[in-house]
Order: sequence, then structure tokens, then C-alpha cells
Amino acid sequence: MLRGIVPVPMSSEPGAPAPEGFAPLCVPEIRGNEWKYVKECLDTGWVSSVGSYVDRFEREVATKVGTRYAVATVSGTAALHIALLVAGVQPDDEVLVSTLTFIAPANAIRYVGAWPVFIDAEPDYWQMDPQKVTTFLEQECRWSNGRLHNRTTGRQVRAILPVHILGHPVDMDLILEVARNYGLVVIEDATESLGATYKGRMVGRLGDIACFSFNGNKIITTGGGGMIVTDNEAWARKAKYLTTQAKDDPVEFVHNEIGYNYRLTNIQAAIGCAQLEKLDEYIAIKRRIAKAYTDALTDIPGIAPPHEAAWAFSNFWLYKVLFDEAQYGVDSRGLLRRLEEHRIQARPLWQPAHASPAHRGAVETDCSTAEWLNRRALSLPCSVGLTPAQHDEVIRSILHFSSSSLPFREAIVDP
Ligand SMILES: Cc1ncc(COP(=O)(O)O)c(C=O)c1O
Repeated sequence: MLRGIVPVPMSSEPGAPAPEGFAPLCVPEIRGNEWKYVKECLDTGWVSSVGSYVDRFEREVATKVGTRYAVATVSGTAALHIALLVAGVQPDDEVLVSTLTFIAPANAIRYVGAWPVFIDAEPDYWQMDPQKVTTFLEQECRWSNGRLHNRTTGRQVRAILPVHILGHPVDMDLILEVARNYGLVVIEDATESLGATYKGRMVGRLGDIACFSFNGNKIITTGGGGMIVTDNEAWARKAKYLTTQAKDDPVEFVHNEIGYNYRLTNIQAAIGCAQLEKLDEYIAIKRRIAKAYTDALTDIPGIAPPHEAAWAFSNFWLYKVLFDEAQYGVDSRGLLRRLEEHRIQARPLWQPAHASPAHRGAVETDCSTAEWLNRRALSLPCSVGLTPAQHDEVIRSILHFSSSSLPFREAIVDP
């Protein structure tokens, strides 16, 4: 645990329906063809891990992202696990990964027996810091015989795993350039950022392979689920093989490799197809919610709303704000408690992965910006279905708790 951070008892898990009367942080929005498509699965008996909706969901996600292939998985974490395997990450390799992220990508690196090298966030958009990636590779590693090794641990550095957090892309150009120079694979964790773009290119087709999540708190959901996308045909085939128990002869049950039961079911994919039909609409709503917050909170002492880079289009999956206790009057965790008392769900950023006891022994670089952000950041309710009244109430409460009693500015929200 980071020093000085006391856990706060909370109303419910993110993604689960909020308790009655709460302004929910980020909950699923089910308002399209979900019932129709699921009923078709139930009526026809195609409920399990093969079926036309699985094929269709894979095809449609690949089309949306612009990759040649997509392979559905049971979760985003499973997608990351398989992406690391097919990309050739070996036990005792090292993989550079964002420290300011949900823990799943760091865990997936350990599943394959490799080690995370935690890279700090940059202060502007809170994404993996490309300069710190370059500094680590150039100053802490040695290049010989076409391989890159960490000078301290002696391990081979194999891949970079940037995580596009909160719906905003990582600044990828420098990362892609150093990866090319050193022969490293780039695995994008795009789990939070479906529909976001970097310099006009879809997140998920910037590196060699990428992963999405459709768990309950993501911009679209299948209840639980994930997707691997890539242009590499051999990797896509291998991903499908490994996610379906590595069946070489499905009649005689012959398996030449260790496989995994990681396939998405047809019912989940049916929900995914219906949700995908709404993605652009949901992103537009998320962006409107974000703009209304930013309009209301900009220039309030001690509050720093998030920025969208000029080169980025964010899906604003989560809307995070920084609170400076000295100016705002309350620290982020104090505000979290007060909002909870007012039936408003908020959440801090994740504990940076380099500080996680689960990842003791991983390679750590200077991650002071991520720690600084973690102490100050809170996510505010930004569900697609947030009502204008709930939105106004959140803004009113945040202004009310501020030590400078500034007037409430009208937030115009029309989700
Ligand atoms: C950055 C990031 N990576 C990976 C995951 C894992 O996805 P899932 O929960 O579908 O396993 C999540 C979400 O939970 C995430 O936010």
C-alpha cells in the first residue's frame, strides 16, 4: 500500500449495478438488440463456445479496429496471457509495462514466467512515459548479438506492453521506434480504450498485437470477455488454438500443446454484437459527459480535469480528476468518503503496479509520477446512462466540498 493511503469501505464493485439511489461510477448500458440476439442463442441451442455470434463478434471487432484478425477470449486478462504467449515471450524474459494500470497486464506477464519492468506515467495524459521507456532501454540495457539484455538482471528484454489507460491513447511513436530498433514486440493493452485513436489510427492496430476487455465496467460489455486483434495470421491461428484447449484432433482428443479453456461463449458474443452496434453512440455520450465536467470544474482551485492530447481521440471511458488538498481543502480519499456519504460512487486510480506486494521482485524504475497521480486522482460517475440530475449533483457536491465556496456552474448534459 502507498504510504498515507487508508482504504475506504465502498458501496460496490465497479461494473456491478450501483446500490439503489447511487450515482453509478461506470455501469453497463443495455438498450439495444441484446435481448433479441440472446433469445436467438437460447432458441437455437447455440449457447456455448462456438456459434455464429462468436464469429460475427470477432469479424466486427476486427473491422472496427482495422486489423485482419480477431480472436475472442473469456476475458481481457486471458487475451493478454495468450497475446504474450503467441508473441514469443519466454520464461525469464522481461517486458516493459505501464505501472499506472489495473494489475492484469503485470499479472499476465508473470503467467508466462516473464518479469515486468515497470515504467512510470507521464504527467500530462498519465500514460506510459515514452521518454522513460527509451531511457531504460538505452541506459539500463546492453545490445549484443541481436539481443537486448537488462545489464542488472542479465535477462533478455523481449517486449513492450503499453496500456492505453482510461480511454486515452499512449503517445506511441517513440515507443514503436525504439521497439523497431531493438527488435522488441509491442503488445497493446487496449482493454479500456476501444474506439480511441492515436494520430487518426485506431488504438489496437498500432503495435504487433493488442487486447480488449468487455467486462462489466468497460465502454461496451459482454458481461465478461476479451479479444485479441492482430494482422499476424500465424499468431491469430495460434491464439485460436491455445484458447480452445490446443485441440489437434477434436474427435480423438489429441493435444500437442498445453491449451486453455479461454473461449467466449456464443451468448456473451451475442451481447457483444448488440453492444458494438452502440459503441459510437456511447463514446459520443461519454465525451459529452466529460466535456460538461471539464466546463464546470476548470479554474476551480485545486482541481485539475484531464486533458485530451491534440494527437488523441479519447473514448473517455473513465473521467478522472486530480485534487490538490492544499488548494481544494480535502484530499482525494477524504472526498471519496464524502461523495460516498452523498450516494455518489467515485474511485481512486489503481495502486501503481510497482508498489503492489504481488509484484515484489519485479524490475522497478523511477515511478514517482504514477505515485503522485495515485494520491490525487478520483474517477467521477460517467456511466453512459448517467442522468443530467445525477451529473449536476456530482458537480454540485464537488464544488460544495471545496474550501473556496465558488458558485455552481450549470452543467449541460444530455446523455
Ligand atoms: C488495463 C486493463 N488491462 C486488463 C484488464 C483485464 O480485463 P478483464 O477484466 O476482462 O480480464 C483490465 C480490466 O479489467 C484493464 O483495465
